Amino acid sequence: MTRSVVTGAAGFVGSHLAEKLLELGHVVIGIDNLSTGKAENMEAFVNDPGFIFYEADIRDRDSMEQILDTHSPIECFFHLAAVVSVPFSVQHPEITHETNYKSTIRLLSRSRKAGAGAFVHAGSAAEYGNESRLPIKEEYASDETEHLSPYGRTKYLASREVARSSNPCGVSLRCFNIYGPRQDPTSQYSGVISRFIEQALKGIPLTVFGDGEQTRDFIFVEDVIHAYLLSAGINPANGKKSPPKRGIYNVGRSESITINRLADIIKSIIDPELPVAHLEPRPGDIRHSLADISKTVRTFGWKPSWDMKEGLKKTIEWYRENPETL
Ligand SMILES: NC(=O)c1ccc[n+]([C@@H]2O[C@H](COP(=O)([O-])OP(=O)(O)OC[C@H]3O[C@@H](n4cnc5c(N)ncnc54)[C@H](O)[C@@H]3O)[C@@H](O)[C@H]2O)c1
Repeated sequence: MTRSVVTGAAGFVGSHLAEKLLELGHVVIGIDNLSTGKAENMEAFVNDPGFIFYEADIRDRDSMEQILDTHSPIECFFHLAAVVSVPFSVQHPEITHETNYKSTIRLLSRSRKAGAGAFVHAGSAAEYGNESRLPIKEEYASDETEHLSPYGRTKYLASREVARSSNPCGVSLRCFNIYGPRQDPTSQYSGVISRFIEQALKGIPLTVFGDGEQTRDFIFVEDVIHAYLLSAGINPANGKKSPPKRGIYNVGRSESITINRLADIIKSIIDPELPVAHLEPRPGDIRHSLADISKTVRTFGWKPSWDMKEGLKKTIEWYRENPETL
């Protein structure tokens, strides 16, 4: 049986990844310190006999050592645990560096000892800073990029190191804006989609920072999970293995949408009469973001399959079924 590690397994994306790996028959060792993730995110699979969960901090070397010693050999190491909040990273650059960079490098090296064939890191579009060349290609991020936060910088440094590793085969997925069920709308750092859905379901005005003409590249979580699996050499349909391919890859839909249009779609699904309130622009917000995904498509045969409206409907349906999350 294939044994995979998922750090950040109680998080939004990590919980979907763990669930899918279990569905494909993997034994999954989940690691999370529950700092921004929640035990409820693992409810659907926590009792699966193939799932082993450790509430542990990736910065704690002894715990990591012990967990990996117990469960070696490991085939795939999916590393999603991180400081995810940009404002938190600005306030706590040292914690962010220790978590997002140093711990990643330690785990990369430790996963080699555990026999891992693939190490897949959760990179981020924040690695591109305020890039004005659109669509954004992987090579646009460099040591000279002016990152807007310690979050962006540490993710960049970690991706760079991971992609240099051939044993285990290092992959970093630079995901753009991910949305879907289990995203936490109550977090002050929550993404715009979960915030709009929360506001719309509560019948309060949708708050848009600035004129709303800024654009983003949103991608549904299921498409992201497929990218994670394919990049580790796992076929999402049947679990069959092929060799992973080292490198850094963008993951987005390569379609931009304005925040105003996003608000309109969410209103059209929940309540077209809802007002929109425009607030002051947020300092440091980038104006446009759009992924060039040609390298990812070419390398893995991956392509996003969820249309924006369908993904939003599915997400809203989940929030309606889980009103306690609002
Ligand atoms: N959501 C997005 O739009 C997006 C976009 C690009 C990249 N990413 C990256 O994807 C990964 C998952 O993001 P998410 O949106 O699911 O966020 P999330 O906060 O839901 O998940 C991160 C998980 O890591 C855990 N964690 C944090 N620090 C830890 C530590 N020191 N030890 C152990 N666990 C720790 C948290 O408790 C949480 O469960 C992150 O690395 C994030 O930077 C997310």
